[in-house]
Amino acid sequence: MRAALILAGLMAGTSIASAAEVNLFSSRHYDTDEAIYSNFTEKTGITVNRIEDSADKLIERMQSEGELSPADVLLTVDVGRIDRAARLGLLAPMESDVVSGSVPAELIDADGEWLGVSTRVRNIFYDKNDVENPPMTYEALADPQYEGMVCTRSGSNVYMLALLQSIIAHAGEDAAKEWAMGLKNNLARDPQGGDTDQIRAIVSGECDIVVANHYYFARALRKEVEGLTGSTDMVGVVFPNQDDRGIHQNISAVAVAKNAPNAENAMKFVEYLVSPEAQKMLADGNDEFPVVADIEPSDGVKSLGDFKRDTISLAEFADTTRAQEIWDEIGYQ
Ligand SMILES: [Fe+2]
Repeated sequence: MRAALILAGLMAGTSIASAAEVNLFSSRHYDTDEAIYSNFTEKTGITVNRIEDSADKLIERMQSEGELSPADVLLTVDVGRIDRAARLGLLAPMESDVVSGSVPAELIDADGEWLGVSTRVRNIFYDKNDVENPPMTYEALADPQYEGMVCTRSGSNVYMLALLQSIIAHAGEDAAKEWAMGLKNNLARDPQGGDTDQIRAIVSGECDIVVANHYYFARALRKEVEGLTGSTDMVGVVFPNQDDRGIHQNISAVAVAKNAPNAENAMKFVEYLVSPEAQKMLADGNDEFPVVADIEPSDGVKSLGDFKRDTISLAEFADTTRAQEIWDEIGYQ
């Protein structure tokens, strides 16, 4: 009898809300996150069921499953996708004094449907041997003096979309489009590869100036990254726009699903992610920046030095529809 009941519970699976689990739809796939989840389980007794896929696939799944979706928490590595989930009506507003008391307002959605649990900034890297006057702003990447020297990944990549959309937010569509055209004119090769590939291309001599998130470089300082570790001395690091708005930042973002079967556990999980303990683990695991004050980033990240960041609200550039149109209009791959 008892076995039958347990079996029935198992077969019902995630469609039945359980007091002791939370279903995490995650597009993060860092091994180090595992420790964060097991620590949460240890503290709360709530099991974390990880469902990992690309953000687009997870969002598609939540959409098609509708009210029956087992998703409790959605975790993404950029603001654009999580905001798209919000615009699709898939998320629930989060009301939490813990969150609003510890996370800077610019990292929280205007409707409270998503928030950043860690931040990443988008640096300019350059070949110290070949570039005497590196671009010190994103705008300067479009300066004709750098013709044939610049490499980026595809414009449709979320990091490139967020960067262009933030330029739209600051300077308007016309200026942003002109900048995008100037950048295209300066390319050393067709946009390709991931962020690490851009920095690698400095080492290999293919590119002189590239754009990439800070942690791809910091990682190579701490562990073996093929084609990069051992050669980082030749790579110069620029924190752009230090004399004006500051470097562009993005977030690893978290949200609670609108139809979460374990909504209470989901909120506990979100609050746990902004606890000092989880913040330290998040930051160290992927060399990101904590969102909570007084938590130290990793040694590799600290070695990059202090800098000023653009504190425009991420909600101002979270919808990257126009940025994608501009890349398409100018034929940026
Ligand atoms: Fe990334």
